[in-house]
Order: sequence, then C-alpha cells, then structure tokens
Amino acid sequence: MVFSEAEIGQRVRELGDRITDAYPEGDLLVLGLLKGSFIFVSDLVRAIRRPLQVDFLVVSSYGNEMVSSGNVKLVYDPETQLAGKHILLVEDIVDSGRTLARVIEILKGRGPRSIEVCALLDKHDRTFLPQPPRFLGFDAPNEFLVGYGLDHAENFRHLPYVASLQ
Ligand code: IMP
Ligand code: MG
Repeated sequence: MVFSEAEIGQRVRELGDRITDAYPEGDLLVLGLLKGSFIFVSDLVRAIRRPLQVDFLVVSSYGNEMVSSGNVKLVYDPETQLAGKHILLVEDIVDSGRTLARVIEILKGRGPRSIEVCALLDKHDRTFLPQPPRFLGFDAPNEFLVGYGLDHAENFRHLPYVASLQ
C-alpha cells in the first residue's frame, strides 16, 4: 500500500480547507476529469465549505496502455456555463501533464474567471504542464498506481487506498 485510506482522508480534508480559503467569492465549478477522479471529487467536494457546482469531463489518453499515447481526447463537453466562473479541475494523477495541459487549453477558450488544478497525486514529470498543480495531495513514486479511482485496464478503481500495481 502506498497511501492508506486514513492518510488519504486526512489529506483530502486539508485540501478542502485550503480550497475553501482560496476562493472567497465568485462562482466555483469543480470539474472532475473522468473516470479517474470520481472518488476523489466526491470526497473533496464534501470537504469544501462554500457554495459550488460539480461537473465532469471525460478525457481519455492511456487506453489500456501504461504509458501515455499522447492522443488526448475530450470525449464529452459539459453543458455547464464556464464563462465567468472559477474552474477547479480535479485530476487523479499528473504524469507528463499532457492531459491537463490540453484540457486547460480547450477550457481557456470559454472565458472562465480562473482555472486551477487540484491533483491527488503528482509524479513530477510534468513535461507538458507550464506550472505545478495549485492544490496537490501527495508526491507519487514513479510506479504505476491503482485504487481510489485509479485503474489499470479499468480494474482496481474501487480500492479505498492507493497501491502500486507491482
Ligand atoms: P499525463 O497526461 O501523462 O499527465 O497522464 C495523466 C493520466 O494518465 C491520468 O489522468 C491517469 O488517468 C493516467 N495515469 C498516469 N499515471 C498513472 C498511474 O500510475 N496509474 C493509473 N493511471 C495513471
Ligand atoms: Mg486513467
């Protein structure tokens, strides 16, 4: 086990507090990147104590491979209005940052008031991301991780902790 259920719970509460303090006013839209962020988003929004809205984007980049194909696809666009809102993109894990960089590029065209990233895990490769996530759960080891939403070929997402596939 890399990060236990208790460790994750503690860290998510801290992130919720930091996000609560970081957005004093304005509409906040928490935008989860599916499928990997679905558990993280559901815990995170319950730790944020201010009004917010929740929506999801489906982004596919890895398929069943363990390395990024570089072929980032936005499969679904939210019908939610983005203009004038603070957008908090929620990602399970940042590897090369290619997925997030592409999503940010697309969403910027819709006139949001701000775009920030909250990632549960960061492998610190980030070749494609101009800046680190504003809100980060944990530094991740350079191993393939599963659980708490993260999958390998769609398996292991349901585990309440994060573990290394090996
Ligand atoms: P990036 O575009 O290279 O930053 O890759 C990020 C995406 O790849 C994440 O949204 C995950 O879905 C997936 N990914 C990267 N590393 C892992 C891992 O260790 N386990 C599971 N999925 C991963
Ligand atoms: Mg994935």
